[in-house]
Amino acid sequence: MDYKKIVAQRIKQLVDLDIVVIESLIEIPPKPEMGDFAFPCFQLSKTMKKAPNMIANDLKEKIEKEGFEKIECFGPYLNFFLDKGVFIKNTVEKILEEGDSYGSSKIGEGKNIVVEYSSPNIAKPFHVGHLFTTVIGSSLYKILSFEGYNCTGINHLGDWGTQFGKLIYAYKNWVDEQALAKEPIKELLRIYVKFHDEADIDPTLNEQAKMYFKNLEDGSTEEVRLWTKFRDISLIEFKKLYDTLNVKFDSYAGESFYCDKMDDVIQDIENKGLLVESNGAKVVMLDEYNMPPCIIKKSDGATIYATRDLAAATYRKKTYDFYKNIYVVGKDQSLHFNQVFTTLKLMGNDWADDCKHVAFGTVRFADKKLSTRKGDVIFLDELLNQAVAKTLEIINLKNPDLENKEEVAKKVGIGAIIFTYLKNGRERDIVFNWEEMLSFDGETGPYVQYTYARAKSILRKVEESSNKPADDLVLDYNKLNSKEEFELVKQLEGFQNSILHAIDKLEPSMVTRYAIEVAKAFNKFYNQHNIANLEDESNKQAKLKMVEATCQVIKNALNLIGIEVVDRM
Ligand code: ARG
Repeated sequence: MDYKKIVAQRIKQLVDLDIVVIESLIEIPPKPEMGDFAFPCFQLSKTMKKAPNMIANDLKEKIEKEGFEKIECFGPYLNFFLDKGVFIKNTVEKILEEGDSYGSSKIGEGKNIVVEYSSPNIAKPFHVGHLFTTVIGSSLYKILSFEGYNCTGINHLGDWGTQFGKLIYAYKNWVDEQALAKEPIKELLRIYVKFHDEADIDPTLNEQAKMYFKNLEDGSTEEVRLWTKFRDISLIEFKKLYDTLNVKFDSYAGESFYCDKMDDVIQDIENKGLLVESNGAKVVMLDEYNMPPCIIKKSDGATIYATRDLAAATYRKKTYDFYKNIYVVGKDQSLHFNQVFTTLKLMGNDWADDCKHVAFGTVRFADKKLSTRKGDVIFLDELLNQAVAKTLEIINLKNPDLENKEEVAKKVGIGAIIFTYLKNGRERDIVFNWEEMLSFDGETGPYVQYTYARAKSILRKVEESSNKPADDLVLDYNKLNSKEEFELVKQLEGFQNSILHAIDKLEPSMVTRYAIEVAKAFNKFYNQHNIANLEDESNKQAKLKMVEATCQVIKNALNLIGIEVVDRM
C-alpha cells in the first residue's frame, strides 16, 4: 500500500491539480510530531486566489479521514497522521505475504538493460578495483532485475591487445610450467613483469613482442594456441572467485570478441567523414567537445581499446536493443567513455545517450602489509581468505559453540568486504580497515547480519518456550503503539522507495544504507521492548509478526547487494 498515493488521491478529490503534481508536492515532515505526510498549499493559493492557510483549513474540514488517526493544519500545510494500527497491520501483512519478492515491481517490464561489470584483464591478477566493479555491477543487475528490467550481464574481458605479444615472448622464454600449473596467474604475472624489466635493458624485445601480436591477429596457429591457453587458465581462476562471491554473467564476450567486428565500425566512421589522419594514426577529432581525439587506429595500423568499445556498443545495440547500456568502470576511465560515447553520437547513433558510465573511486588499505606487496598487487583470494579467517576469530570469541562456524565466517567475512564497497556513494574513495569493517556494531555488514540473527533468535526462543497460539487468535496491531515500533515499520514500508532511488542514481549504496537504517530501527525497538515476557498473547503475536517482517526485509535488501543472511552468528 502506497500511503503517499492515498494521500494524493484524497487531496485530488477536492482540488484541481494533476495527481502527479500533488504527489510531487507532498513532503515528509521533519519531525514525527508533525505527522507522516504534509501537503503545502502555496501552489493552490495562486489559482484559488485564497491564502494558503485558509485553503489548508478548508481541505482539513472536507477531506476523507478514513485510515488516518487525524489530519491537521500547520499554517499553510495540511498534515496527515497515519492510523498507526492500520498502517502497521497493512505493512507487516504485505511483507509477510509477498516474502522474498517484497519490494519488487514490474516497472522495468519490457525494457532491456545491459550491465557491464568486472571485466578483468586476462593473465593479470584480479585486483581490488576489479572487485569494486564486480560488486557494484552484480548488485545493479540484481536490483534492476528485481524491478522487472530484463538485464544482460556482460564481462568485457580484457583479452586482446599488444600485451599478449609480450606475454607470448615471455612464455616462450621464461615460463616455469610447474609454477604455472600451481598458481597460473601469479606465474603469468611474474613473466610479464620480467618482460618489462628485460625490455628496459634490451628494447629489441618489444619488436619481437609486436611480431607475436601481429601473428596472433593474423590467426597463426601457435600464437592462437598460447593465447587461448592464457585465456582459459585465467578464466578458471576468475570463475572460482565469481563462485565465491556468487556473481554471474550472461556473456563473457570480451575485447577479442570484437576483432572481426571492428572493420565495419571503422568503415562507418570513415563514411560519415569523421576519420582523420593525425601523426600517422587515424582518429576522430573531438576538440569541439574539449577532448583529445579518439584514436581509432594507431600509426602501425593496430586497433585499440577505444575501437573495440565502439564495436562493442554497436554490437550490444543490435543484439540486445538496450534501453540503457551501463558500464561499471573506474572513474579514471571517464575521459575514455566520454570519447567513445561522443564518437558514437557523431556517427549518428541517438542511442549513444543511453550509454552510461557508472564510475567508482579508488581503493586503498589502511593495513600497510597488504598494500606494499610485491608489485603493489593485492591478491584477491588472499584478501577474502583473510576476511574469513578474521571473522572466524571473532566468532570464536563471541560464540565459540556456534555450529558450522566456518560457513558462517565465510558469509559474514565476505559479506563484510562487499558491504564496505557498497556502503558509500560509489565515487568516493575507500580505505579498507579490518577492524572497522568487521566490527559487529557500527555501519557494517556484520552489524546488519547480526541484527538479522538476533531477530531470528527472538522468533526461535518464543517458539521454543511457549505454546502455539490458538488458531482463532486475533492479532492486535493497535498495541504496537510505541514510537520505536512505528518508526521501524515506517522503515520497512520504505523499502521499495529506496530501491527506486538506487535505480535512479545507479547507486547500490542506497540499498546498503537502507539496510543499515532498518537494522538501527530494529535495535532501538529491541532495546526497549521485551517480547518473550509479554502476557497479552495477541500483542505478543503481533510483535512477533513485525520481527518476522523485519527479517524478511533485511534478507531481501542484503540479497540485492549480494550478501547472504545467517540465522545464527
Ligand atoms: N579491462 C579493463 C580494465 O581492467 C576494463 C574494461 C572496461 N570496459 C570497457 N568496455 N572498456 O581496466
